[in-house]
Amino acid sequence: MDKIVMAKRAASEKAAQYVRDGMVVGLGTGSTAYWAIQKLGEMTKNGLQIKAVATSNQSEALAKELQIPLIAFTDIDGIDVTIDGADEVDDEWNLIKGGGGALLREKIIASASKELIVVADEGKKVEQLGKFHLPVEIVQFGYELTLRKLASYGCIPHLRMSGEKRFITDNGNFIVDCEFGRIEQPSELHVALNMIPGVVENGLFIHLATKVIVGFGDGSVRELG
Ligand code: 5RP
Repeated sequence: MDKIVMAKRAASEKAAQYVRDGMVVGLGTGSTAYWAIQKLGEMTKNGLQIKAVATSNQSEALAKELQIPLIAFTDIDGIDVTIDGADEVDDEWNLIKGGGGALLREKIIASASKELIVVADEGKKVEQLGKFHLPVEIVQFGYELTLRKLASYGCIPHLRMSGEKRFITDNGNFIVDCEFGRIEQPSELHVALNMIPGVVENGLFIHLATKVIVGFGDGSVRELG
């Protein structure tokens, strides 16, 4: 198995060990969270009793395929634990997310979770956020104006494409990948970006992670927190 895949799988399988009978579990999105969902599928097959909510149509489809029981938001008060990946993780466990375009649902679910376990291969760990272009979900109406506003915060905005077409999120919106280079003050930027009319949510996850599990190419893991 490829070393990065091995690292992602190791981190995700470690995170799945924190899931217990009776929990409501948030299922993340992406190639790392994929392995957590696979593991939870195996565990439920072996008798683990959980209910799950998914952060994307893709993860929901995978959960259904693996027969992980899903539950409606109306039927839960909160989420016990969510396991999700990240594009960058800094020393304070602030994150950039949204590489897979699911940042809005991921943030709604992370915010409603008692625990957010972030699973990442070692390449995601950074001293400062911003090398990875920050994904921002925006409504389609007037998007040209929103792009200009985003640029006024010091980034080069790139409207995300999927082949020849504009990328559309599960919520029917566009994603703009904002090239900042370095993000000096993530908390402030997070608030400022969400104040722009047309912005639905941005991919900065500030102080939401409660645990970070980093996976390595040799299959070992390091738990932070
Ligand atoms: C999706 C995300 C993912 O968690 C993030 O992009 C990491 O993905 P991967 O595990 O495939 O590297 O935020 O919106």
